[in-house]
Amino acid sequence: MLQAKAQKLTPTQRANALLQRMTLAEKIGQLNQLSADFATGPITPQGNKQQLARSGQLGSMLNLMGASRTRQLQELAMQSRLKIPLLFGQDVIHGYRTTFPIPLAEAASWDLPAMQQTARIAATEASAAGIHWIFAPMVDISRDPRWGRVMEGAGEDPYLGSLIAAARVKGFQGSGLGHTNAVMACVKHFAAYGAAIGGRDYNGADVSQRSLWETYLPPFKAAVDAGAATVMNGFNDINGIPATANALLQNNILKGQWKFSGFVVSDWASISELIVHGYAKDHKQAAQQAILAGNDMDMESSAYQNHLATLVKQGQVPMATVNNAVRRILIKKFEMGLFDDPYKFCNPQNEEAQYDNAAHQQFARTMAAKSIVMLKNDTLQSQPLLPLKKTQKIALIGPLVTSQRDNLGFWSFNFDDDSTRLVSLYQGMQNALGSNAPLLYAKGCNLNDADTSGFAQAIATALLADVVVMQVGEARDMSGEAKSKSNLQLPGVQEALIKAIHRTGKPMVVLISAGRPLIFNWTAKHIPAILYTWWLGMQAGNAMADVLFGQHNPSARLPITFPRAEGQIPIYYSHHNTGRPAANDSDLNYVSAYIDLPNSPQYAFGYGLGYGTVTYAKPVVSNTTPKGNNTVDVSVSIAYNGPSPRTETVQLYIHDKTASVVRPVKELRKFQQLTLLPNQQRVVTFKLTTEDLKFYNHKLQYVWEPGAFNIMVGPSSDKVQTVTVNWGK
Ligand code: GLC
Repeated sequence: MLQAKAQKLTPTQRANALLQRMTLAEKIGQLNQLSADFATGPITPQGNKQQLARSGQLGSMLNLMGASRTRQLQELAMQSRLKIPLLFGQDVIHGYRTTFPIPLAEAASWDLPAMQQTARIAATEASAAGIHWIFAPMVDISRDPRWGRVMEGAGEDPYLGSLIAAARVKGFQGSGLGHTNAVMACVKHFAAYGAAIGGRDYNGADVSQRSLWETYLPPFKAAVDAGAATVMNGFNDINGIPATANALLQNNILKGQWKFSGFVVSDWASISELIVHGYAKDHKQAAQQAILAGNDMDMESSAYQNHLATLVKQGQVPMATVNNAVRRILIKKFEMGLFDDPYKFCNPQNEEAQYDNAAHQQFARTMAAKSIVMLKNDTLQSQPLLPLKKTQKIALIGPLVTSQRDNLGFWSFNFDDDSTRLVSLYQGMQNALGSNAPLLYAKGCNLNDADTSGFAQAIATALLADVVVMQVGEARDMSGEAKSKSNLQLPGVQEALIKAIHRTGKPMVVLISAGRPLIFNWTAKHIPAILYTWWLGMQAGNAMADVLFGQHNPSARLPITFPRAEGQIPIYYSHHNTGRPAANDSDLNYVSAYIDLPNSPQYAFGYGLGYGTVTYAKPVVSNTTPKGNNTVDVSVSIAYNGPSPRTETVQLYIHDKTASVVRPVKELRKFQQLTLLPNQQRVVTFKLTTEDLKFYNHKLQYVWEPGAFNIMVGPSSDKVQTVTVNWGK
């Protein structure tokens, strides 16, 4: 009867009923999360985890994978007095068993349904391996490629980043918590972690309220509105208040204004780090500050476990505060169905079924091809160098050509594969050409040292070929957490190798694989064809071959600006005009410009090429003097002349020419992706309303203001055509 009655109660009612029966120690246990089989941060001693689980002093574990392994720990939790199930969390950042391109690469696809699908696949595989909760999407906006974690996010733009955040949350949570293939998303790192001063990881963020609301918060709001079950805060301080103890962010904005009903978890030991920040005098005060500021669960610092009971008994933390935190966590466990079946995610047969899913791998290949940005494709002997012909004798040269693991990126836990699942460029080209193809190869150099002894062999190899394809860039641990760089040049002697091969006079294609924008100005100037191949995941080689031979017409567009020099950083398209804008890259007459290099970036936000040419006409508006809540149609005619179907991302930017605060010279507000067939003309129409014109005014109110607006449409932020409308009240 009780069980039947329990079924009719809501998760909140069931959580409240359980709370009544819990001791203070059991409540605090729910707020305690510890790492299991490996560390993803500095290691601290935490006592006997099995005993903590058995005695109900552990609410969650991370870094523990596998249906049988998670069952073991869940069985221990079922020995506790109240049999409250554990939550198992994991950093499934871009795929679980199937490793997809890194998030920054996927963002370059601008393909929201595809990004939702890779998240859905990741959730399907992770949940089959006993994981309830994944610490993704990471939605930190960043305009600083010195910061290694730029690889994990969606780039520099809050509009694009918000759409991607929502798509990923929907992908992870699927049909809703409680379904066996749905996992809890965890949107992170709340907030402004990507604004680390100097691009140095874990450094403070000094941001204005305007920047916070205009740039760094929108993707979090989009994720919360999409139903994100949890939020993770961050290591950084925001204007002097560490994120983990930031009541304005967690209590006021997230749980108050946004009415977020899930729970907040700290980042790895970030509660303990309040002491190192100089914000807490000791561990006990750190625990008090964090829970009072809205941090519900303690990842890895044991601060709540060690001090909360005393803080409550001494009246320094209200019991209601503890109850609120515990209630939020219990509600999610009820919603996940874990009280009804603690082992519902521990099905070895399901895990086996998802282990080597061919359809997932095929989609990884599709997504990887969609993520490759063609930066250059010059015409040689009256035709573009790419796509290559399979009859050409090809030399593959470079330190990444045969690498499998480096294509998996920083957050991949599944590189213990046999080599058949991970496809290097070499293997991808062999797959495309057939194993008997006369494919030449030389490594040329290492990734990051001064050894040029391999150059001679590489040059000799190049001379035997019709065309050279090089793959250079970063090792998988050169971008990611705690991987900030002051120098973004191609590491080691890689660009020297490119120059050496260039001196052979052979036609060359350079593929650059990295977790962030790198600087390669000489290559950009002298090499006729360049593909930016990020870290493309397990199907990297096949996807690269698909683009090189034209099976996939390159469609990706940069989600982040590429600088010419570190000295330009932060550099991004949505900048202010200033009172003295440079008219062009050579204007140095009392203008806002560098005297030692052009102001413009190496490559602009939204930039990318494809096979064939797309011509844009000037945009046309249905009304140049709209009023109030009119809708304005913005139409642009585009014509495509190319060898194969091509996905085009038509981008629409606005500029509010005069406002109560200065507005960026352009802001992305709409985009449409469409497939163009050879020799086809299409008209793309956007519908604009005043909702698309809103911004945070001088009082931080989210409003639109009447006046003149430039509406700009084009294939890239630096290639737009403009029409002006005067939008009246
Ligand atoms: C790491 C990362 C965070 C991750 C967590 C657990 O330090 O900052 O993104 O989810 O710890 O691995």
